[in-house]
Amino acid sequence: MKVSLSVLNVDYMNAYESLKDIVDLVDYEHLDVMDGEFVPNISFGPDFVKSLKKVAKRPFDTHLMIMHPQNYIDKFVDAGSDYITFHVEADCNPMDVINQIKAKGVKAGISIKPKTSVEKIKKYLPYLDMVLVMSVEPGFGGQSFMENSIDKVKELKKLKDEFGYSYLINIDGGINNETAKFISPYVDLAVVGSYLTKANDKLDRLNLLKKL
Ligand code: DX5
Ligand code: ZN
Repeated sequence: MKVSLSVLNVDYMNAYESLKDIVDLVDYEHLDVMDGEFVPNISFGPDFVKSLKKVAKRPFDTHLMIMHPQNYIDKFVDAGSDYITFHVEADCNPMDVINQIKAKGVKAGISIKPKTSVEKIKKYLPYLDMVLVMSVEPGFGGQSFMENSIDKVKELKKLKDEFGYSYLINIDGGINNETAKFISPYVDLAVVGSYLTKANDKLDRLNLLKKL
């Protein structure tokens, strides 16, 4: 299974240092941007993304948990994002934001919160490069995996196979060596945060996940 490393739960003063043995071995870096309005937490902005881009070589999978993504697309494109994923529940016109991201030559993704059904984003699927299914309530790392997300990635895989859509299926929250087994048959990649960033045996754990 491909891994997108969430750098949310690190000591920001030595983020790179603490992740250096796996940061170039994961498939994507996952940047959790939070505005304190869309989610009850504030993380980091485009400048942090820009500084990490100077040292991290893998593609950037930027996850905007912000109320008005349309106001920040350019900043996160300029910061070096390869994928920009925003929430369908945010205060925006999703089709406009998809077009705004793609007009900058960056890949566009939509994320759905645990209470949001796949039905809500069906009409956008033909235009998306990524769908990010939240398997925790967005806002914090280290939460427990919510099993209702399994049906969503199953449904997204079925739709993708049936209609030939090209989006990557991604899942985010509470992914570890156990929960990864439930979803690895259906997803193209998975976001992993604390299972890796809080561990002493990061490399062993990463290799375990890659084998799934
Ligand atoms: C939560 C973030 C997730 C989180 C993943 O709002 O979107 O990316 O950081 O962290 P873990 O893997 O610890 O649940
Ligand atoms: Zn995330």
